[in-house]
Amino acid sequence: MASCDFGPGPDRFLAEVLSGLRKPQKELPSKYFYDEHGSHLFARITELEEYYIPRVEASIMQAHIGDIAGLIGPQALVIEFGSGNCEKVRFLLDHLYDPVAYVPIDIAREQLLPVAEQFASEYPGLEVCPVCADYLSRFDIPNPERAARRVCIYFPGSTIGNFDPLPARRFLEHAAAVCGQAGALLIGVDLKKDPAVLHSAYNDEAGITAAFDLNILERINRELECDFHPHRFQHYAFYNPRESRVELHLISDRNQEVHVGGETIYFAEGESIWTESSYKYNLEEFARLATTAGFKVEQVWTDERRWFSVQYLTPR
Ligand code: AVJ
Repeated sequence: MASCDFGPGPDRFLAEVLSGLRKPQKELPSKYFYDEHGSHLFARITELEEYYIPRVEASIMQAHIGDIAGLIGPQALVIEFGSGNCEKVRFLLDHLYDPVAYVPIDIAREQLLPVAEQFASEYPGLEVCPVCADYLSRFDIPNPERAARRVCIYFPGSTIGNFDPLPARRFLEHAAAVCGQAGALLIGVDLKKDPAVLHSAYNDEAGITAAFDLNILERINRELECDFHPHRFQHYAFYNPRESRVELHLISDRNQEVHVGGETIYFAEGESIWTESSYKYNLEEFARLATTAGFKVEQVWTDERRWFSVQYLTPR
């Protein structure tokens, strides 16, 4: 199986960590949550009662898979941005007619390659070409052996929610370029809802989200030889209605200093590191964003409570 690696190395990781920690509002890029342990913790999040996203998205996919497969059509090349454990795409591939190839793109190298191998053996007619990359950076899409009739980018789980408004637009513009005029983007977009529901989704009883959030410090310690004391930070997540986003923070419980790449970073008691944003949209807002990025919203499917949406976009 051919695979490509454009993933960020340790130098890039250190540079991004340092630039985030030097800001007045300290921050860390959420894409670095997903080392081996982080990917495992995220898989556990997706099984939590409180974390409604995977359940609701799967129910929408199930209810409308006939329409979805009809729109995508036969002999598609399916590219997945942020494929993770490749679990969600199975349902889609199982219902497409004669898909030509599957290109999972993910930054989590440790997870990507074994899962892709496994996938290739389960789907013998399907060419599987994993690409390790930060899907915002430039990378080459492998050319499949059989010609594809359409490139369909699959971007489930509301990962789009991690992007601030301008990067979200840039991401969609990039997606439009990758899928080309005849292509499409099948995207999961989380919707605005009762903040209490959002609050419990990111503050689960079992503390898995807290462990997931704190794991980024463990990863930095291990891979960049730093000396964070993770137990001196507390997971804090809340819905910010003004910005329409859930914010994850790690709050320092005391004045302390940490050494990162030979630099000393000071934390005051109560100071936070902003680790993630998860934007929530309404349908009009997302349509506006998609339109400014060069897409047309062809179809929107939602659940009864309108908690989540799956959308089929085509370049204009
Ligand atoms: C993978 C970005 C969709 O924002 O809901 C879950 C990540 N963070 N719990 C989300 C996440 C904390 C998740 N996304």
